[in-house]
Amino acid sequence: MNTQKLQSPANMNDMKSRMEKAAEMKDEDKLYRRDGILYSTVLSPPETMDKLKDLQAREDDLILVAYPKCGFNWMVAVLRKIMNASTGKDEKPPERPPLVEFLPPDVQEKLAEMPPRRLLGTHLHPDNMPATFFTKKPKILVVFRNPKDTLVSYYHFMNKNPLLPNAESWDKFFSDFMTGDVSWGSYFDHALAWEKRIDDPNVMIVMYEDLKQNLPEGVKKISEFFSLPLTDEQVSSIAGQSTFSAMVENSQKSHGNFGSIFFRKGEVGDWKNHFSDAQSKQMDELYQAKLAGTKLAARMNYDLYCQ
Ligand code: A3P
Repeated sequence: MNTQKLQSPANMNDMKSRMEKAAEMKDEDKLYRRDGILYSTVLSPPETMDKLKDLQAREDDLILVAYPKCGFNWMVAVLRKIMNASTGKDEKPPERPPLVEFLPPDVQEKLAEMPPRRLLGTHLHPDNMPATFFTKKPKILVVFRNPKDTLVSYYHFMNKNPLLPNAESWDKFFSDFMTGDVSWGSYFDHALAWEKRIDDPNVMIVMYEDLKQNLPEGVKKISEFFSLPLTDEQVSSIAGQSTFSAMVENSQKSHGNFGSIFFRKGEVGDWKNHFSDAQSKQMDELYQAKLAGTKLAARMNYDLYCQ
């Protein structure tokens, strides 16, 4: 491996070279702990995370937030299509996913030069996001997914993504997820943090399962939330291009060889093929202890999707 190539900033900004770098690392070096939470050593090193405190959000930014594996990349694609259709522009997606915690400090600085409206995303817990995501009051779209399917999706992602260590086993990953000892932290801590903000007019929470059920309605609601009006034809065209099968078909073009990492099954209920009865019960108990009775739980429809 040509390390000089990997160290040059231009190449370090490139996802492919960072994946190559991670592929050469030992699994135990791929994550590090910061304030108790695990992050990717290659993508979110301390200097990148430190720099986030300077990030200046703007009121007209589109902020997309999702705990890992809840449908972030799906919504990135939907949002880009909404932005293009509503503004009549044909902006090509940048090479890098719009996750602020993946942007090296020099690239974070360049965000200031980006014309409006910017799409900024993150998997971070609200407490660890740039403060201006809240003080400047940009609109924030949050995607959630039932915890059982999120766990299954995360498990497969660990084993396919060279940036993350392989899951030692299904049972080990299951218990790490339950205790929150996975990258970006505990699903339940994220959910409880958004529960506190669920009535904030600048926050809209959408559920993966609802989007699967009725994508045109989701596209319409999201476009209205961001004040990016669409015609009915545009709504149905965007929904048609954003189904799992349509996105998989286009994935070689949109994600190159990484397509198979981001698109796996795209279904609701795959947890039934993975969880033992005891694990299912354990998750039900954790859900009861942490989330039952919350507004977010009512939106999540846990009984329907997780029983
Ligand atoms: P599965 O692993 O269950 O298939 P994220 O982008 O947050 O990492 O989420 C990835 C999950 O979203 C994966 O779930 C992926 O297949 C699913 N996904 C991606 N595009 C989708 C689409 N158009 N429709 C439904 N699910 C999609």
